[in-house]
Amino acid sequence: MIYSRIAGTGSHLPDKVVTNHDLEQTLDTSDQWIRERTGICERRVAADNETTSVLAEQACLKALEAAACDPSEIDLFIIGTTTPDLIFPSTACLLQKKLGLPDCGAMDVNAACSGFLYALNIADKYIRCGDAKKVLVCGAETLSKIVNWSKRETAVLFADGAGAVVLEAAGEPGILSSHIHANGDYMDLLTTNAGVSVGWEETKDNGGKPEIQMRGNEVFKVAVRTLGRIVEETLGSNNLQKSDLNWLIPHQANLRIITAMAKMLDMSMDHVVVTVDRHGNSSAASVPLALDEAVRDGRIKRGDLLMLEAFGGGFTWGSALIRY
Ligand code: UT7
Repeated sequence: MIYSRIAGTGSHLPDKVVTNHDLEQTLDTSDQWIRERTGICERRVAADNETTSVLAEQACLKALEAAACDPSEIDLFIIGTTTPDLIFPSTACLLQKKLGLPDCGAMDVNAACSGFLYALNIADKYIRCGDAKKVLVCGAETLSKIVNWSKRETAVLFADGAGAVVLEAAGEPGILSSHIHANGDYMDLLTTNAGVSVGWEETKDNGGKPEIQMRGNEVFKVAVRTLGRIVEETLGSNNLQKSDLNWLIPHQANLRIITAMAKMLDMSMDHVVVTVDRHGNSSAASVPLALDEAVRDGRIKRGDLLMLEAFGGGFTWGSALIRY
């Protein structure tokens, strides 16, 4: 049997830090409200010239270095992003050139906040079926560019960043299983107000730029319910128990959702990787950013059992159970 394993991780954040106190200057909000309702203290925001591919390039270079993998060895590149540099060429194609990858397959996956888990799922399948030996998988976003900075409901939440892993073929897992789901019934709860086919009619409010629109409280409830189901599905399909897990690496949308997941999994918060306080919600980048942080600071060790999960616009949701 061929399995995939994580050979190396990397991540990158823009330099600019925006604190809750900074947002208090321009919005009818407070540091106290943001901390209590979301757990966020500060977030990173890209400069005008820091596009998604600029952030992704740095994260990918670090992952390649950690995996001691030359770009020429990569058989497939997949990036989860909902904020591509351009409509086309894909962000993956831009990175194929920037990173000096061979003429391998390169694709963007748009599954909003679940984008990295979708990308990881596809990469794992390519390796398992023998079509690829090394796959570079990235999650990267510049959500700040589609946030309406005058709307407190969303401006305090979203952020920018990038994370990546090199997956490689191995004799044993690695990725024990990964799961992806979607349900378009909920499209109106978390969406953008513009797009290529739909047009840009509604964007006057935000200086002609599209904006994220979210009915946060409703999203919150479905997210907790749905993530509860997918972690049960993931453990069940491997005949493993909650107590087998060493680390939960959740999507970083809201500390209250993360805490609810830890409770469901009977895990102490000491075994949950939390970055939402400093990173905010960086959508497809949030899980690989958290993973890389905990790998590099030595919390996650080889042999540990990791549960990764994410939930986002669509709705989409995904998970992966990984022997690191
Ligand atoms: O990553 C993709 C998936 N996304 C998520 O999982 C996000 C899920 N949702 C959430 O994280 C939370 O629902 C939010 C953080 C977005 C909102 O927290 P909440 O506890 O659900 O608040 P709410 O929307 O029910 O609003 C409560 C109050 C409202 O005022 P009234 O009607 O009670 O007077 C809002 O207008 O808080 C008000 N409010 C704010 N106040 C200060 C909303 N945003 C803010 C704000 N600052 N930034």
